[in-house]
Amino acid sequence: MTMGRTLTRLLLLFSCLVSLANAKTHYHDFVVQETKVTRLCKTQTVMTVNGQLPGPTLEVNNGDSLVINVVNRAKDNVTIHWHGVRQITTAWADGPEFVTQCPIKPGGSYTYRFTISGQEGTLWWHAHSSWVRATVYGALVIRPKEGDSYPFPKPKRESVVVLGEWWNANPLDVIRQAMRTGGGPNTSDAFTINGQPGDLYNCSKKDTVIVPVDSGETILMRVINAALNQQLFYKIANHQFTVVGADASYVKPFTTSVLMLGPGQTTDVLIKADQPPARYYIAGRAYASAQGVPFDNTTTTAILEYKTAPCPAKGGSSNPVMPSLPAYNDTATATTFSTSFRSPKKANVPTDIDVNMFITAGLGLLQCPQGAPASTCQAPNRTRFTASMNNVSFVLPSNFSILQAHHLGVPGVFTTDFPANPPVTFDYTGNVPRSLWQPIRSTKVYKLKYGEKVQIVLQGTNISTAENHPIHLHGYDFYILAEGFGNYNPATDTSKFNLVDPPLRNTASLPVGGWAVIRFVADNPGTWIMHCHLDVHIGWGLATVFIVDDGPELSQKLQKPPADLPVC
Ligand code: C2O
Repeated sequence: MTMGRTLTRLLLLFSCLVSLANAKTHYHDFVVQETKVTRLCKTQTVMTVNGQLPGPTLEVNNGDSLVINVVNRAKDNVTIHWHGVRQITTAWADGPEFVTQCPIKPGGSYTYRFTISGQEGTLWWHAHSSWVRATVYGALVIRPKEGDSYPFPKPKRESVVVLGEWWNANPLDVIRQAMRTGGGPNTSDAFTINGQPGDLYNCSKKDTVIVPVDSGETILMRVINAALNQQLFYKIANHQFTVVGADASYVKPFTTSVLMLGPGQTTDVLIKADQPPARYYIAGRAYASAQGVPFDNTTTTAILEYKTAPCPAKGGSSNPVMPSLPAYNDTATATTFSTSFRSPKKANVPTDIDVNMFITAGLGLLQCPQGAPASTCQAPNRTRFTASMNNVSFVLPSNFSILQAHHLGVPGVFTTDFPANPPVTFDYTGNVPRSLWQPIRSTKVYKLKYGEKVQIVLQGTNISTAENHPIHLHGYDFYILAEGFGNYNPATDTSKFNLVDPPLRNTASLPVGGWAVIRFVADNPGTWIMHCHLDVHIGWGLATVFIVDDGPELSQKLQKPPADLPVC
């Protein structure tokens, strides 16, 4: 070995050691508790983390580890999911109840331990049990490793905007009622920005969130859609966004005046404070793609406030400027936005696909069980709402988590026959015959070998109603190669695949009455749920689970279950 090469190796080793030494471990206590929260002139008792709504923002650097001790002092079960964190070999810390763990029961606790590796930008955390995430959620900010920089000039200021959804009720009661009646759940009463509905709602004005800026500066705003059941448009009056990241991956910067985020998605934007010093509304409201389905049509606001804005008390204009938001059903704007994403550089897109899947995703209607009272069949034509992937309406187990059953070899918890294709081919986005509206309910998973290259065509259906579905996969980021409307046609649509610089995401926005194609390499062992991130659809069964085997190397094997893993 030459002197030069030895030196390079030494230097490399040294820089690895330095970066290892820099990686930190962050310890947090999350106490889940019943908390009285007043919004819209009314007080509700809801579950929170540490009494905060939203819960604490976690701030880390890429490469850091987190140790979060979750204690359940509330009356209902809880688990916490670290949305978008890859959890490489640490599936035990992923969090979805009955998938990777049993729930943390009242009085119980569980410590989540995991490392952030190779992810930068914005993720978030939320409860993954019933509708607890309506009030148990918060941001996870991942900055570059110390000494590394953003791929854009370092902004002067950063702010986090978490969009949420609020009911004048306990959200668990809302979903329990819907499950009883078989109908759709009550729509929410407000959307929120960092927990506050804002100026346009009753009794909310004094708590409206203010985002301060200095004239001329650029801020990095991290926007998270933590709403339960609603895609949201997001805009700031008179200001443009430069999108620089999404789901903790950087993107090729592009400018837009409006964002659309499905629940689960995050978008990092740069905003230049280049307008006359004043107050500008930041506003969010529904993108409601399903026709004839009730939705919350209210608008949440915060205020972008220039520090030198004339003070309202001193005769300055007191009303902030309001942006004009897209119409609720503006699918064209939603599509223009979601198809603008590109990876910053040539991406390492998997080719030579090993596993080709075609998965339908949509709603269904179950016939009213014989003898059941009409009050329990409140969906259209005396039915009960359901949902499915490839005609399987996913049922969570209740006695074991899928990961435990897989790890211990417990039989009878799930079957491995989730179909790679729909059992029947039909005109998915046409007039679907009634005979195809009723899925089967079961716990079917799909097995993947370590390292397999997977392509999934996600195909929305018109069953009951077509709508946009935010499809989220745990444990992975995937490339979105293409999307379109109508039925996917391999003969013509493969030519639309972006194999050069498709965006890397953890949640795809499946167009209303359309399709999307995703690819990933199954390089993370564990059991990973893929589901629609509209919470009401998870309960109805719009989900499936992938079981990924261990790889040959030690670093490719699922770690041992933690000693405090909750049992069912
Ligand atoms: Cu953010 Cu399974 O969810």
